[in-house]
Amino acid sequence: VFDQGADPQRVWLGARTQHSGLEVGLAATLRVDGAPPVRRRGLNCDGVPTLVAEWHAERGAPVTVAKLVSVYTSRDLELAEKGKRGEGRDGGVVDVARQKLEGLLQRGTRYDDLLAAHKAAWERVWALSDVQIEGDDVAQRAVRFNLFQLLIAAPWWDDRVSIPAKTLSGFGYRGHVFWDTDVFILPMFTWTHPDVARHMLRYRYHTLPGARRKAAAEGYPGALFPWESALTGDEVTPRWVPVPDREELLRIWTGDLELHINADVAYAVWQYWRVTGDDEFMARYGAEIVLDTAVFWGARAEWHPETGRYEIRDVIGPDEYHEHVDNNAFTNGMVRWHLQTALRVLDWLGTRHPQRAAQLRQRLGLDSERLAHWQDVIAKLYVPYDPQTKLIEQFDGYFRLRDVDLTAYASRERSMQAILGIEGVQETQVIKQPDVLMLLHLLDDAYDVETLRANWAYYAPRTDHTHGSSLGPAIHAVLACRLGDPETAYEHFMRAALVDLEDTRGNTADGVHAASAGGLWQAVVFGFGGVRLTERGPVAEPRLPPGWQRLRFRLRYRGRVYDFDLRPGE
Ligand code: IFM
Repeated sequence: VFDQGADPQRVWLGARTQHSGLEVGLAATLRVDGAPPVRRRGLNCDGVPTLVAEWHAERGAPVTVAKLVSVYTSRDLELAEKGKRGEGRDGGVVDVARQKLEGLLQRGTRYDDLLAAHKAAWERVWALSDVQIEGDDVAQRAVRFNLFQLLIAAPWWDDRVSIPAKTLSGFGYRGHVFWDTDVFILPMFTWTHPDVARHMLRYRYHTLPGARRKAAAEGYPGALFPWESALTGDEVTPRWVPVPDREELLRIWTGDLELHINADVAYAVWQYWRVTGDDEFMARYGAEIVLDTAVFWGARAEWHPETGRYEIRDVIGPDEYHEHVDNNAFTNGMVRWHLQTALRVLDWLGTRHPQRAAQLRQRLGLDSERLAHWQDVIAKLYVPYDPQTKLIEQFDGYFRLRDVDLTAYASRERSMQAILGIEGVQETQVIKQPDVLMLLHLLDDAYDVETLRANWAYYAPRTDHTHGSSLGPAIHAVLACRLGDPETAYEHFMRAALVDLEDTRGNTADGVHAASAGGLWQAVVFGFGGVRLTERGPVAEPRLPPGWQRLRFRLRYRGRVYDFDLRPGE
């Protein structure tokens, strides 16, 4: 639809397009003040509808040009109809966009008014989100930059969408949602804007039907979230991708084998509930997510009479350098936690919401036999751990793989996978990102600090920090703080902080690294701030890095706002 109005002060333009099943409509006007007669035109260029204003400019005579654009998608109209966002309006997306713009112009709204409203809205957001660092301008700017990237990508009104791995800033990963969202990004929202976190978790709830289809297609009951998720919850990880510069296709196994996503989503639900105390969410949405994904695990864990234990074979853990591994410690550890949590949630539901509990028991097949089976899996699932050394083997046979001294590769500019090859790196102990250490990060209550120390000493030197996964550095920063080493933590923290500002991995053009941005917030709050959740609420045990004179941030816990104002040595 292209429409140019008769009013010389305005040029109307409407465009309708189809993208991901959504209709998008826009209306625009160009206003030129202070110029002699202006010639206006609208050009219906294919895909690039254009407004043109031409005038004869005089030196020293200022002219002000303001372009106002209003954009609506069909999803906005759906939300308005449900009373969730904006007023309802008549017509399709183009009409509504145009009505909005006409309304603004009739009321005499100018650019400055809109700018003021925009600033006021941002001030409300930053009042809860800002992190202030005194004594380190680079870190201050980088932290705000990363927070901003997440805030502009957040689903503030919608619970059918979430934050993709590259946010909306690039075409990398095609807008797909990974565990990056649930484990790395979500905590920042849970602790500062829980309404947004709730939307992101409800996105998972709405995609449960796809997750059930995925489990069924693999021959299992329950729900298995896709490794890469889009609108429906069906698996959208590409199975084959072209290898750059070679006429070959590469098989991508993550969509088939990276199952830990199921426990990651349950973990995010649990954390949200702990922090917000949002029982209504848990009863209506969260419990179903936790329970139906647990049903999948109960069936996926295999009993092996020869070892006398349950095992989970043929998976990929967080470290994607190693594929088709058995008994990945992260996966198995999270599954045990997940089944324990599912039983606790069901207990709570039975006491507090018995009708809903009965409904879910019936609908998800949670009979006494299945629950007894979960107990058995919890008791007998193999989760690697050597009580003598406190070391956790990343997967069966990992310790027998060839050891590589990464210091010998210190000046490289490529990942270890690129250097050794996809098969080559699998024969070594080099890892792409924290895996055992990720387990110790998520289940920090379950493992003591000595276990963390032993495994840090083993795994951190074998990790491709600079060219492996961008998800790793922020988590290493949190853990180094827990080990009382804020200097080492700062090195990892800076790697995460500058990944996009300085394009240190050379791939920011694909989109920003959202998980790293979320991890950065965790590094500041849980790492340097040392925030832990206690029975009295969140408490801080700061371990500020050298140079930081003051660290301030706000958290929301169960409806109350907590202000943290930390200084070195406090
Ligand atoms: O989810 C991550 C994964 O952990 C490492 N590869 C990239 C994915 C998307 O960021």
